[in-house]
Amino acid sequence: MATKREIILTGDRPTGKLHLGHYVGSLKSRVELQHQHEQFILLADLQAMGDNAGEIEKIRQGVLDVALDYLAVGIDFSLSTVYVQTAVPEITELMSFFLNVIGFGRVERNPTVKTEIRQRGLDDGVTAGFVVYPVSQAADIAAFKATLVPVGEDQVPMIELTNDIVGAFNRLYPESTLVECRALVPKGGGSRLVGIDGKAKMSKSLGNALYLADSPNEISKKVKQMYTDPQHLRVEDPGHIEGNVVFSYLDVFDPNQEEVAELKAHYQRGGLGDGVVKKRLEELLQEILRPIRTRREQYAADPGAVIELLKQGTARARERVTPTLDECKRAMGINYF
Ligand code: TRP
Repeated sequence: MATKREIILTGDRPTGKLHLGHYVGSLKSRVELQHQHEQFILLADLQAMGDNAGEIEKIRQGVLDVALDYLAVGIDFSLSTVYVQTAVPEITELMSFFLNVIGFGRVERNPTVKTEIRQRGLDDGVTAGFVVYPVSQAADIAAFKATLVPVGEDQVPMIELTNDIVGAFNRLYPESTLVECRALVPKGGGSRLVGIDGKAKMSKSLGNALYLADSPNEISKKVKQMYTDPQHLRVEDPGHIEGNVVFSYLDVFDPNQEEVAELKAHYQRGGLGDGVVKKRLEELLQEILRPIRTRREQYAADPGAVIELLKQGTARARERVTPTLDECKRAMGINYF
């Protein structure tokens, strides 16, 4: 194969179960990438503490839930190295060195973090850790000498910061050999799937998510609740496609886009009821989620085995970053003993 094998670093904050937005936005591509490249996936529990320090139980449960979601979608823990961030203290150590090679002003200017602070209503009480989490993320990436970071468009400032930090570190300590990375942004910017309310991106905090672990009944209920076109009162009425969640999901999930185009035309002309379109979508979603849910249930029956897999992944990750940290310390001249 002609494609170069890259080192990929990606991950999630383990604050709850993953949803369909995660599936189309990142999980699906990770399942493919793991066959072509060397892939590391972190459960960013330290990062999650930035706004959840009082809710460790939630993070602890999140670690298991996200690992189950990974296994359920087909992430193979022998191909991908999945690990827990705080159990690799070398990463936190690297972050603390990084904090001293980049200006606070540079970190503060991050537009994504500013938006997150606003959206999460953290303006008054944002922790120092939350503000500098992009530095932690830079350490996540640099510790593995990762070259490729699959992210949505909103995370591109994180990659720029990572490369600024890596550049600053290598200049300051010329014997250091940290490497820069590239963002792998999916076609269309990787903007996340809209929530079932049609108001915003799918997210747990907005209560508009369809979870990978949802039961067939929950899926059915959520499809019925989906926002369509409030003006479309009678079947004969012409309906709107723009902002109609059901059609935007069909765009993403329906393999037969020709039929989707016909359905859209019919809907816009009038004479096509929401129920018919929703039924088609529900069948598609049930079909996609059934094998995922089944696998999830199988793994969930033995949480100890999942924790063991995480333990092994974490050990492999730690083995991998320890030489990088030794090298950084040598380059810095703090190899005292
Ligand atoms: N910020 C990511 C999220 O919110 C998780 C994450 C932490 C990450 N460190 C990373 C992603 C490094 C990519 C690279 O889910």
